[in-house]
Amino acid sequence: MTAIVALKAREILDSRGIPTIEVDVGLSDGSSARAAAPSGGSRGKREALELRDGDAARYEGRGVRQAVENVHGVIAPAIIGMELEGPWTLDRRLIELDGTPDRSRLGANAMLAVSVAVTKALAGGGGLFEYLAMSGRHRLPVPMFNVLNGGAHAGNTVDIQEFMIAPVGAPSFAEALRMGVETYRALRALLKKAGLATSVGDEGGFAPDLDAAHTQPFDLLLSATEQAGLKPRHDVVIAVDVAAGELFDGQSYVFRKSLRRRRTTEQMIQLYSGWLRHYPIWSIEDGLAESDAEGWRALTTALGSRVQLVGDDLFVTNAALLRAGIAGRLANAVLIKLNQAGTVSESLETIAEANRSRYGVVISHRAGETTCDFIADLAVAIDAGQIKAGAPVRGERVAKYNQLLRLEESLGQSARYAGIDFAKRGSFLSSEPREVALEGLRGATTGSPGRALPVAETRHSS
Ligand code: PGA
Ligand code: ZN
Repeated sequence: MTAIVALKAREILDSRGIPTIEVDVGLSDGSSARAAAPSGGSRGKREALELRDGDAARYEGRGVRQAVENVHGVIAPAIIGMELEGPWTLDRRLIELDGTPDRSRLGANAMLAVSVAVTKALAGGGGLFEYLAMSGRHRLPVPMFNVLNGGAHAGNTVDIQEFMIAPVGAPSFAEALRMGVETYRALRALLKKAGLATSVGDEGGFAPDLDAAHTQPFDLLLSATEQAGLKPRHDVVIAVDVAAGELFDGQSYVFRKSLRRRRTTEQMIQLYSGWLRHYPIWSIEDGLAESDAEGWRALTTALGSRVQLVGDDLFVTNAALLRAGIAGRLANAVLIKLNQAGTVSESLETIAEANRSRYGVVISHRAGETTCDFIADLAVAIDAGQIKAGAPVRGERVAKYNQLLRLEESLGQSARYAGIDFAKRGSFLSSEPREVALEGLRGATTGSPGRALPVAETRHSS
């Protein structure tokens, strides 16, 4: 039987220059592994607690020395020498040691780094995705590339946090990645031509100031797709993360960065329904705030058969919250962020819950990342079909996409890309063609040289 023989934690930096915790683990069979905790920019209120020192003299209070100390002083004495009967013996022990509902004693950052490191070490030389596999199927996920950033991730005038492109029509993951990169490059050229900023937000997507109606980002994505020689809807569909919890003041949704106006829940649903009429949108994440449960029910009733509605802050990767949400008919998919839960096994429990009710699963990075690429293996292992790891640039983002390339290579002949079949799995993309609407856009979005990028007066503008 395998036992943990060494455990070492340290404070390192995430992609934003904010401290996070990294853990090295050694097992009695000689295997070892390293893992680091990611960190959110916009956070759900019910996420497991990320322990920060609060000492203003260091890193504006964001140091993680206490979390490191918890690994050395509390976790290590309890688990060194412990026989690991199965992958989740360790997680159960961590949960026991913490003993709080919100992981506030040990810190979810400390727990997750240990949990992931041990899982990786236990998988040893074999494929981590094989070790973690929940089903016999190992499909490469559709990548959702976050190419335009707003909300809490960027200092621009865009209130919506993420505009993503998903190359569902690619024949393989490697081709999907190429399509994503070429569209990203085309988008950059379009922005430059229009005199818009090409600086990037936290997840590597461009972060220019854009029009207040929130139609310009979609027009840009469609133009860029076409400039890259691809067909919107057929090759590439759009996904959005509104992160609406950031906009909600308890009554209504305040678009502070752009319009400085409010929208009621009903108006938010109308806004999305307008988007769906005009654009090839496959997925809308956190379209409403987690505290707006009635709104979520109305949103799901109105649009749930036409589009994937992903709960991120709504479910915070928590199996019980997801179960309650499923019973209440909220959303039709769940976002999985390991650090919202605190351990690998609790995240797997949430995934199992989603699978039982045929809810979609999207494996996700966070705004603050490291080069740790565990989520790539996880996405293949559990056959999620979808992953979001940011734009296809910056070391911490491409670490995940590069690992998916390796996994596709190692699967060889048996590698399958989830692709468009996945998109059709639910009734998310209605079989009704939206080509008619798209047809109308083509002239408007391609633009002649030197012409300012289209703003959307001619389009729906609610
Ligand atoms: P976060 O962003 O890490 O800031 O939460 C990612 C997301 O909201 O999906
Ligand atoms: Zn989100």
